Amino acid sequence: MIGKPLPRPDGVEKVTGRAQYTADNSAPDLLHAVLVTASIPAGRVTSIGIDEAMGEPGVERVLTHQDMPKFGRMGGPPTAQSFMPMQSGQIRYEGQPVAIVLASTLEAAEAGARKVLVHYKRGKTRLPAPRDWTTLDAIAVDPKKSDFLFFEPEFAKADADKELARSAHRLETVYVQPPRHHNALEPSAILAEWDGDVLTVHDSTQHVYGVRQVLAARLKLPAKNIRVIAQHTGGGFGAKGWVWPHEVLAAAAARLVGRPVKLVLSRANCYSCLGYQPRIAHRMELGADEAGRLRALVHDVINITSISDDFVEFSTEASKSLYATASMQLRHRVERANVAMPTPMRAPVEGPGTWALESAMDELAHLLGMDPLDLRLLNYAEEDPASGEPWSSKKLREAYEEGARLFRWRERSRQPQRDGAWIVGQGMASCTMGVFRMPSKAEVRLKSDGTAIVASGFQDIGTGTLTIMPQIAAAVLGLDLPQVTSQMGDTRLPEAGPTYGSSSTMGVGAAVLRAAEDVRGKLARLANLPPDEAEMMDGQIRRRGAGEGTSIVDAMREAEVEEIVGSGTFNPEDSGKGLAMRTFGAIFVEVGVDPELGLLRLRRAVGSYSAGRIINPRTAKAQMTGGIIWGWGMAAMEQSEYETVFGRFLSKNLAGVPIPVNADIPTDITIHFVDEIDEHASPIGGKGIGELSATGVAAAVANAVFHATGRRIRELPITTMKLVTS
Ligand code: MOS
Repeated sequence: MIGKPLPRPDGVEKVTGRAQYTADNSAPDLLHAVLVTASIPAGRVTSIGIDEAMGEPGVERVLTHQDMPKFGRMGGPPTAQSFMPMQSGQIRYEGQPVAIVLASTLEAAEAGARKVLVHYKRGKTRLPAPRDWTTLDAIAVDPKKSDFLFFEPEFAKADADKELARSAHRLETVYVQPPRHHNALEPSAILAEWDGDVLTVHDSTQHVYGVRQVLAARLKLPAKNIRVIAQHTGGGFGAKGWVWPHEVLAAAAARLVGRPVKLVLSRANCYSCLGYQPRIAHRMELGADEAGRLRALVHDVINITSISDDFVEFSTEASKSLYATASMQLRHRVERANVAMPTPMRAPVEGPGTWALESAMDELAHLLGMDPLDLRLLNYAEEDPASGEPWSSKKLREAYEEGARLFRWRERSRQPQRDGAWIVGQGMASCTMGVFRMPSKAEVRLKSDGTAIVASGFQDIGTGTLTIMPQIAAAVLGLDLPQVTSQMGDTRLPEAGPTYGSSSTMGVGAAVLRAAEDVRGKLARLANLPPDEAEMMDGQIRRRGAGEGTSIVDAMREAEVEEIVGSGTFNPEDSGKGLAMRTFGAIFVEVGVDPELGLLRLRRAVGSYSAGRIINPRTAKAQMTGGIIWGWGMAAMEQSEYETVFGRFLSKNLAGVPIPVNADIPTDITIHFVDEIDEHASPIGGKGIGELSATGVAAAVANAVFHATGRRIRELPITTMKLVTS
């Protein structure tokens, strides 16, 4: 059962439109909310005229900062930003909510919102600086104002300056990537309903328990008074990982008017009320000896952040862990500006980090006249290069080898090839991602009819957790997947960790495993079997290895038990002490460049990964393919253009936002997983997968473009102009 490519039980429901997403829910007497947002990036609201809006048929209330209660300060996750809009007239970024129009229909609320007259006094505005390194370097500051420092902003190993000075080969380069937005298919949405002091919300979130925690703190309610439900979440990619101000505002609005309120963010709202991957500039310095062994690795990063909080995109994590090097010097700084708060975006941290590191490694390989794969193998990190700790598991060498074999990397031509108008080139990069282990609880209930229920407050954001959690229980209980159903996405269920950081299989998966084992132990006792020696197969429980057993149904009937409830917990403290944990991989791509038209096409890709045990190869393959496609978007298409006159992102809807579609993606994408079980990471043996495949891709593409054209692109995305201009 574990390791079987089973299809998603929720697949048909989703493709036929029957799946209920947040906005599909309703409530009696519901009011629709539409946000009025600031048209300036900095300053104050001087007045808000609501009379005309109130005259719009169907409009019931227009709430401004004068109506809102004080929410109190809260910083750091699960809150996405410390700054709460609508606490005063203060404006810190364009698109910040300044009023909420509530109406009996969505159309009336939208019409009303257009008639709210907001007057502003524009204040001193800190706009994003030009993106050249010298300018950024001069204005960047150390991150101090922050509840978002998950790693050290600076790290040094030995003396990088000294090592650089005596390196036979040296390289210094700057790589830049633009801001990008998540653009989840389902926009963020919330429906809030009060019953006295008890609040129920449906929310499109990656973490129901996080929403509950933030609402409890901001609305000053005991957590037990709040129930958060997320039956399906239509993509998140990090934008729904932490809790944004609109969720608090919608819940507060519902309380103020004493009616249920539904707020579905418009696409325009998604560019200001939610985070995004910030613009990041990287300066890399590599020093290597004659043979190509790394002596020094310097990675200096500056990312843009909001005025309120120093969000740090920890892009040096990949540099800190991917290669053996004699010395390292890693540093993060931020550029504060009147922009909306950035947030993690799939794959955060190592996604941006590998763009810089793996581009630089390719440049070094070229400088040395080495094969890029050989340079990586030569600098293979047998242990964690920063801490010196052994790895919990790492089979990157096998991943490189199998990836190269599947891609026919060794057989490729050193010269770019012609294919009609196209010049064809190949490139590769290493992939790596941190391992995030989140405490989780689960319950498994076995019924006397031989079916079972998995219950845990996890979320399915489209990644397949609704497939693999019952699959894990079915494996232990010897059932088929259709016999196991799931209850998830609800704070009434045992507390699960967030669905981000590619963490669910380890955390929730391990809790489900333990809960199912608990059920098996209890049933074994009923059937007079030693719990440690019992196994369940084909609807039976038996002593391990014994031919015949007792059917589950008979054992439970005989004992007159209707239901056996097992519980399981995953606590990351219980395992892996003193071990470094990461996932790894390699991505190989072939691109075509039409140098006259400046076109860039993906022709084929191979992703080969060392990521622990794979529970379901089918959903896992879908995750990795999706990550490569997402990486192609980062490499070749995505850029949220910031406009400095009005101080805003230009995109206000999805029109003109290039993201990969089917026509951009070839069928020739091969995914391979190395056989691996990492029992230190989690009893389930798995690590994280989804985000791993979004790392490395942008660099591999740029490296392939270099191979094809001799043009080194150091600023993403690789658009036409960069391929045709000299
Ligand atoms: Mo992902 S940025 O961990 O949702």
